[in-house]
Amino acid sequence: MILVTGGAGFIGANFILDWLRLNDEPVINLDKLTYAGNLNTLKELESDTRHIFIKGDIGDSQLVENILDKYKPRAVINFAAESHVDRSILEPHAFLQTNVIGTFNLLESVKKYWTNLPNSNEFRFLHVSTDEVYGSLERTEPAFTEGHKYEPNSPYSASKAASDHFVRAYHHTYGLPVLTTNCSNNYGPFHFPEKLIPLMIINALSGKGLPVYGDGQQIRDWLYVKDHCAAIRCVLAGGKVGETYNIGGWNEKPNIEIVNTICELLDELRPRADGKPYAKQIQYVADRPGHDRRYAVDANKIECQLDWRPAETFETGIRKTVQWYLDNQVWVENVQSGAYRTWISKNYAER
Ligand code: NAD
Ligand code: DAU
Repeated sequence: MILVTGGAGFIGANFILDWLRLNDEPVINLDKLTYAGNLNTLKELESDTRHIFIKGDIGDSQLVENILDKYKPRAVINFAAESHVDRSILEPHAFLQTNVIGTFNLLESVKKYWTNLPNSNEFRFLHVSTDEVYGSLERTEPAFTEGHKYEPNSPYSASKAASDHFVRAYHHTYGLPVLTTNCSNNYGPFHFPEKLIPLMIINALSGKGLPVYGDGQQIRDWLYVKDHCAAIRCVLAGGKVGETYNIGGWNEKPNIEIVNTICELLDELRPRADGKPYAKQIQYVADRPGHDRRYAVDANKIECQLDWRPAETFETGIRKTVQWYLDNQVWVENVQSGAYRTWISKNYAER
């Protein structure tokens, strides 16, 4: 039995779906179901007894302690977080509450549980983090290694950096057997449509503008979500306690190239009724405040020490992703309704 937090979100849900496709070890899924959590994503597990869903907050110590005592998981994998940089700029409080205080409370609950475990050496707390904690790179600088200094620039990355430091401290001070992963930008099925790739696909299909921030030359390093999930399974199985592992697919791309690729794929797979290219919908808009210019992950450590390699190239992964959104319009409509729609209209006149 493992406990996954944030398992109704983009990466957590992909992780659970893949985990249960690959083996029968049950998963408890603790998720607060914020605007970003969606049980429709886990529809195929509705009557699967290997998936135990519990709605709740990682910061609710009583609830978490009850779950740990009742189910006795051999590992906790912490995906739960507020994850969107733009939101962290507009409304940073929730990021502090969940990513910092929530992770801290979770660590405290897990420490209590772990201390009394008979086989405490075998337990693992795996914290899922991001490459954004390392800050921004110049074009000529080498990619982030695990030894790169922490220089978070947004409220989101600062909150994730703080949580990484608490995880490290709980290992160093109390001996909690932790593992931390720092991954680059994910994309793939069930990605919430506030993020670049799904937003561009969905806006293109509905004839809206494709808002590219600033000059569109910012670089992100893209990894297909299922490759990230495989890397986490690898780290859980073979990672050295107390260590951190960078995860990335060596896929650095400027944002405008990503948007153009999506437009070209849509031109091929679902041409516009008027026969014009989707790229006509691109609009350069105001830049994100404090926008990091470049992220790039050096994945040598996980590749050499744990023999993990991504299965998808960017070309295969982005094609699958565009096709997935074309085939899953109902999921899209579902997650776009309600609180998310109200928030978007309040904050982005152009969307
Ligand atoms: P997401 O926003 O899609 O999902 C987050 C999930 O956490 C949601 O289901 C939400 O309901 C849940 N949640 C939020 N606050 C909670 C709380 N207090 N208690 C319990 N559940 C709560 O995020 P994602 O993109 O799936 O990211 C998952 C993790 O991976 C995050 O920790 C993020 O920092 C990290 N990460 C994301 C990326 C990426 O590109 N998306 C890359 C690297 C690392
Ligand atoms: O690097 C890992 C991180 O990647 C994760 O830790 C975060 O949780 C995840 O959200 C992601 O952060 P980014 O800020 O890089 O992702 P986002 O999809 O929001 O933006 C990607 C790039 O595209 C970024 O340079 C901003 C730009 N952008 C984004 C949006 C939403 C646009 O130009 N237009 C847009 O409308």
